[in-house]
Amino acid sequence: MPSLFWLLAASAALGVAKANPLQFSHRARDVDAHLQKRASSGEPEAVSPPFYPSPWMNPNADGWENAYAQAKQFVSQMTLMEKVNLTTGVGWEGEQCVGQVGSVPRLGLTSMCMQDSPVGVRDTDFNSVFTSGQTAAATFDRQLLYARGLAMGQEHRGKGVTVQLGPVAGPLGRAPEGGRNWEGFAPDPVLTGVSIAETIKGIQDAGVIACAKHFIGNEQEHFRQVGEAQGYGYNITQTLSANIDDKTMHEMYLWPFADAVRAGVGAVMCSYNQINNSYACQNSKMLNNLLKGELGFQGFVMTDWQAHQSGVSSALAGLDMSMPGDTVFNSGVSYWGTNLTLAVINGTIPEWRIDDMAMRIMAAFFKVGNTVGSQIPINFDSWTLDTYGPVHWAAGVGQQQINHHVDVRGDHGTLIREIAAKGTVLLKNTNNALPLNKPRFLVVIGDDAGPNPDGPNGCSDRGCDNGTLAMAWGSGSANFPYMVTPDAALQAKAISDGSSYQSILANNRPTTTEALVSQDGVTAIVFVNADSGEGYINVAGNEGDRLNLTLWHDGDALIKNVSSLCNNTIVVIHSTGPVLVNEWYDSPNVTAIVWAGIPGQESGNSLVDVLYGDVNPAGRTPFTWGASRESYGTDVMYEPNSQLPQLDFTEGVFIDYRHFDKTNQTPVYEFGYGLSYTTFSYSNLQVVKTSSAPYTPTEGYTEAAPVISTSNVSSNLADYLFPNASFPYVWQYIYPYLNTSKSAKAASGDLHYGEPNDKYLPPNATDGSAQPYLAAADKVAPGGNAALYDVLYTVTADVTNTGSVTGDEVPQLYVSLGGPDDPPKQLRGFDRLRDLAPGQTGVFEVAITRRDLSNWDTASQDWIISNYTKTVYVGSSSRKLPLSATLA
Ligand SMILES: *[C@@H]1O[C@H](CO)[C@@H](O)[C@H](O)[C@H]1NC(C)=O
Ligand SMILES: *[C@@H]1O[C@H](CO)[C@@H](O)[C@H](O)[C@H]1NC(C)=O
Ligand SMILES: *[C@@H]1O[C@H](CO)[C@@H](O)[C@H](O)[C@H]1NC(C)=O
Ligand SMILES: *[C@@H]1O[C@H](CO)[C@@H](O)[C@H](O)[C@H]1NC(C)=O
Ligand SMILES: *[C@@H]1O[C@H](CO)[C@@H](O)[C@H](O)[C@H]1NC(C)=O
Ligand SMILES: *[C@@H]1O[C@H](CO)[C@@H](O)[C@H](O)[C@H]1NC(C)=O
Ligand SMILES: *[C@@H]1O[C@H](CO)[C@@H](O)[C@H](O)[C@H]1NC(C)=O
Ligand SMILES: *[C@@H]1O[C@H](CO)[C@@H](O)[C@H](O)[C@H]1NC(C)=O
Ligand SMILES: *[C@@H]1O[C@H](CO)[C@@H](O)[C@H](O)[C@H]1NC(C)=O
Repeated sequence: MPSLFWLLAASAALGVAKANPLQFSHRARDVDAHLQKRASSGEPEAVSPPFYPSPWMNPNADGWENAYAQAKQFVSQMTLMEKVNLTTGVGWEGEQCVGQVGSVPRLGLTSMCMQDSPVGVRDTDFNSVFTSGQTAAATFDRQLLYARGLAMGQEHRGKGVTVQLGPVAGPLGRAPEGGRNWEGFAPDPVLTGVSIAETIKGIQDAGVIACAKHFIGNEQEHFRQVGEAQGYGYNITQTLSANIDDKTMHEMYLWPFADAVRAGVGAVMCSYNQINNSYACQNSKMLNNLLKGELGFQGFVMTDWQAHQSGVSSALAGLDMSMPGDTVFNSGVSYWGTNLTLAVINGTIPEWRIDDMAMRIMAAFFKVGNTVGSQIPINFDSWTLDTYGPVHWAAGVGQQQINHHVDVRGDHGTLIREIAAKGTVLLKNTNNALPLNKPRFLVVIGDDAGPNPDGPNGCSDRGCDNGTLAMAWGSGSANFPYMVTPDAALQAKAISDGSSYQSILANNRPTTTEALVSQDGVTAIVFVNADSGEGYINVAGNEGDRLNLTLWHDGDALIKNVSSLCNNTIVVIHSTGPVLVNEWYDSPNVTAIVWAGIPGQESGNSLVDVLYGDVNPAGRTPFTWGASRESYGTDVMYEPNSQLPQLDFTEGVFIDYRHFDKTNQTPVYEFGYGLSYTTFSYSNLQVVKTSSAPYTPTEGYTEAAPVISTSNVSSNLADYLFPNASFPYVWQYIYPYLNTSKSAKAASGDLHYGEPNDKYLPPNATDGSAQPYLAAADKVAPGGNAALYDVLYTVTADVTNTGSVTGDEVPQLYVSLGGPDDPPKQLRGFDRLRDLAPGQTGVFEVAITRRDLSNWDTASQDWIISNYTKTVYVGSSSRKLPLSATLA
């Protein structure tokens, strides 16, 4: 089934090996600062400073105390090779999940299963396909975000999954063209931070470890992987470097990951790209300093699939798990596995570091409620839907029942319908076009309203744009159990209303379309879309990232054609981000515009609920709709500017609405905007200053790295050989064992084993002594210095339904930090006030924390509140802010 993935993976293997043998290097000098000049400009290359040693777990971390104790009890019994087994995947397609690590049979622990995706269980059947993260964010509803996470977690648990590979805060959405923006939430750190935290709590409450990804700077698909880019004909030798300054990192891209860590996330996935010219999965600044040091992350870091670039360096830089374990898919060799065993034996990686890896993995396992010996068996297979097949797919051995077709859906369809409806954004509504009320003659036009002729799962990983767009493409997708098309749902509704109903489910039937929509009294709904996805699939020339921001399949022409003939044309857009609507949005004949996002399996039903008013829309656009692609000020890099592509985030924190506000441009629809069938007024802003202790930078020292093991690591290579001649060795499988005790070099198979370069270790990388706490970190609380979350002000405002129907409203609070380099305003709070009846007033309340009012100070490496005057604004969108007050 993932045949495309396969082919590209194979080409990746060749490409990387030929282009740069050093990519296989485990040598420490690759870690941080190889100071090359930029090929073209001669400017200094962005540099990621080193940070060592890698922080070890804190037994007293809030929420992790019991997990730590259980992990310690378990890990203290483990041998070196058992620990290595936990840290290293068994190889691509070695087992049933997209990634699995080795098991620990002696202690009764079965293999942990890592499975995509952020919208449901991937590559199986009888699972649900949830609304995309981006569309869920458009609900601005914490309860729904939590409920979605819980339901997805329940489905993963039912299939025997240990770690759900989601949710996503990277990409955040630096450029609207970014192919995977829909997998995440919004180009705003607060909306994304709240969304990722609620999703994580939901997933983990279901007993499944959540994996916040991709850490960090993974803002585009182009040049994320060398082999993939070479397959598309680009001449690069290293993956793209996202060059991000420290302030932007803290105030924008790291922010939601702080919320993820604070929510107790058990796993984080490091990304393919480099950050300041150091690979994400061996970047000590990102993993050791920011994630584990400053944020106090207690769980484990796993690589993205084939993002592992080195053995020793990555271990010392804070990586805990290699996925899927082999250097490149199906190479049969690994930077870890045998190599990790050897590196601990030869003392390059200290024992406390491998203990810490095992502790972090087991602590996450226990934290979400697992117990050893009672894991739900993996009951599906990612590589086939056949009932019987080889359990070791790559090797083709172990014939048995591999798919039990367990139905894990519960009644999640109801929830998915609700989320998609509540995430639908009404962008325009004139002449009371909506809600529909038994229209006499309803006409639906467009291929985006109908089915894919090949079925809802007809294109592998949804890698095409045929029929209605209910899920975008890539590993972040899942198989539909069914998909309700807009045509099917609208027709059923029309028939029950006694309407006349006709649809043309194609964009390219001008003659019949014109004849139909010109008929008297027609209400026409035109469906259009714009798709994107992950880089390994190319759809119509879009290698993941979108080539443009216009509608696909001549959608603009279709809308213009229909609206020139029909004075009641309603437009429905399914898309993975903003599209350009200038050519038609203000036509008087376009009476309504609805953004229905990426809705998932209940697409048509959710839409009917909104169009007919059973759900009064209150979704808000989680991104800005600009007048041109240039108006965003950011874009994806399409042509590499070097063999080591350098993407400078020179815009700093000014992405999406922050950019439009700074450059004083009027967008078509601003971030946070969305209409309702009723109206609301805002009044009575109250600001109350709360008493809180002053901020204290954290001081003091951690404990020294604990040695968890009770037995010493033997230096006799013969102790690490495969158990015995009858051991059921699986071809291409990654093991912790040595296949020879002749020499370590022979066992490693690395031609450069033990060379002088390998003896270079970054200063302090193996130091297990007590380390100073970072000022911005906390001694016990994950997420950074706990004082950052102290409430400094409470703001309330009254929101009154001034219309004639009941509805939800999404009040938003923005702050201005007041400095010359600060955005004019930034979202800091929101709520979804539910079911306000006509005349009813609800109270919007936001607790403003110290973090909300702080800037990252690069000099002190801490958050500070500047002396500039702070202002709060409250209203219904980033540009409709009738209430404001300065903070004393
Ligand atoms: C490592 O994991 C493999 C695969 O699950 C298993 O066969 C092997 O026995 C494990 N080795 C140890 C030392 O636990
Ligand atoms: C790739 O670019 C380098 C440097 O510009 C050049 O030397 C090399 O020939 C190119 N390789 C290919 C296959 O085009
Ligand atoms: C150990 O890692 C090196 C690369 O550093 C690789 O060439 C070798 O094949 C690996 N050995 C094993 C047994 O996986
Ligand atoms: C230690 O083992 C690792 C893993 O095989 C290897 O890469 C490295 O060269 C070895 N270092 C020394 C100093 O022998
Ligand atoms: C589906 O989409 C692909 C391109 O993504 C196109 O080549 C193919 O013709 C489409 N099939 C149908 C039946 O529309
Ligand atoms: C729209 O066209 C219909 C005829 O199809 C006509 O009856 C109606 O008055 C027109 N409405 C407006 C607002 O022009
Ligand atoms: C934008 O990209 C889509 C999808 O590749 C394509 O259908 C459309 O024609 C492009 N638009 C323009 C203006 O090139
Ligand atoms: C609006 O629709 C009517 C038909 O109802 C048509 O005569 C008119 O030209 C259209 N106006 C625009 C601006 O497209
Ligand atoms: C190594 O650690 C010592 C204190 O333990 C510190 O003084 C020194 O600056 C560190 N070196 C580097 C390069 O970080």
